[in-house]
Amino acid sequence: MKHIISPLDLSTEELAGVLELAEKIMREPEKYSDCCRGKKLATLFYEPSTRTRLSFEAAMLNLGGSVLGFSSADSSSASKGESVADTIRVVSGYADICAIRHPKEGAPYVAATYSNIPIINAGDGGHNHPTQTLTDLLTMKHLKGRLDHLTIGFCGDLKFGRTVHSLINAMVRYPGSRFFLISPEELKIPTYLREEVLDAHHVPYEEVRILEEIMPELDILYMTRVQRERFFNEEDYIRLKDSFILDTVKMQYARPDMLVLHPLPRVNEISVEVDSDPRAVYFKQAHFGVYVRMALILTLLELN
Ligand code: CP
Repeated sequence: MKHIISPLDLSTEELAGVLELAEKIMREPEKYSDCCRGKKLATLFYEPSTRTRLSFEAAMLNLGGSVLGFSSADSSSASKGESVADTIRVVSGYADICAIRHPKEGAPYVAATYSNIPIINAGDGGHNHPTQTLTDLLTMKHLKGRLDHLTIGFCGDLKFGRTVHSLINAMVRYPGSRFFLISPEELKIPTYLREEVLDAHHVPYEEVRILEEIMPELDILYMTRVQRERFFNEEDYIRLKDSFILDTVKMQYARPDMLVLHPLPRVNEISVEVDSDPRAVYFKQAHFGVYVRMALILTLLELN
């Protein structure tokens, strides 16, 4: 039984298989509408979510299966002190597969340790968000036609942004990856990522402060919001929250074929006037999340 706790839990070959299946589903969704008849997905969300939870639920419903779960810790027995280990032991008997989001890094790993069904990490603290990574990879593959030889600018909160951490982990496996890391000093990527992932894979990267200067070099600009919920004090959040705002003036520095991705939710970091630029693909990206989660559910349940 396979669990997806980190993006590295899928080899590049397995990952290519999931993306290929997602593209097949995208072309002929009706062919897959009964594949999960009789199967149940549990969504255990101890932290707020719109896209991840609802796209998981839409994915399972599109496959003909059913969903059960909770959308906040308050509405579950976690509020009475139940551990993740005990919860998953119980939920393993109610469902066939489970997506879990938790504010504590490592909670999905604990769930996997005690589970009899496949566990999918739907985001753990500031650590990883592997199904967002699958969504990002599908968006890049589908719209750019490749995952190799891409220059990606990651902009915003690179310290707490788990989608950035996961995507960097995944992209270092493709030849020709090159990164620009654009953030305030306080929100630079964690040292472990710099040393154990970027340096260990000899991936070229540069940490910069001015977005416009490197815009012309980028194939992909990956914008992120400053993660208010992970700050220890509100003053720091307020000081840093508007460090980078992508607007139509900055977009003039970008190549005609550069794509702007964002895992969403957006706060202020992309001005709404950018939404009508054809290079702004973040809403398309959110839609791709359903197809890739359908492909992942089929793969983990060995129904593809
Ligand atoms: N991208 C993402 O994880 O969005 P949600 O927090 O709405 O699930």
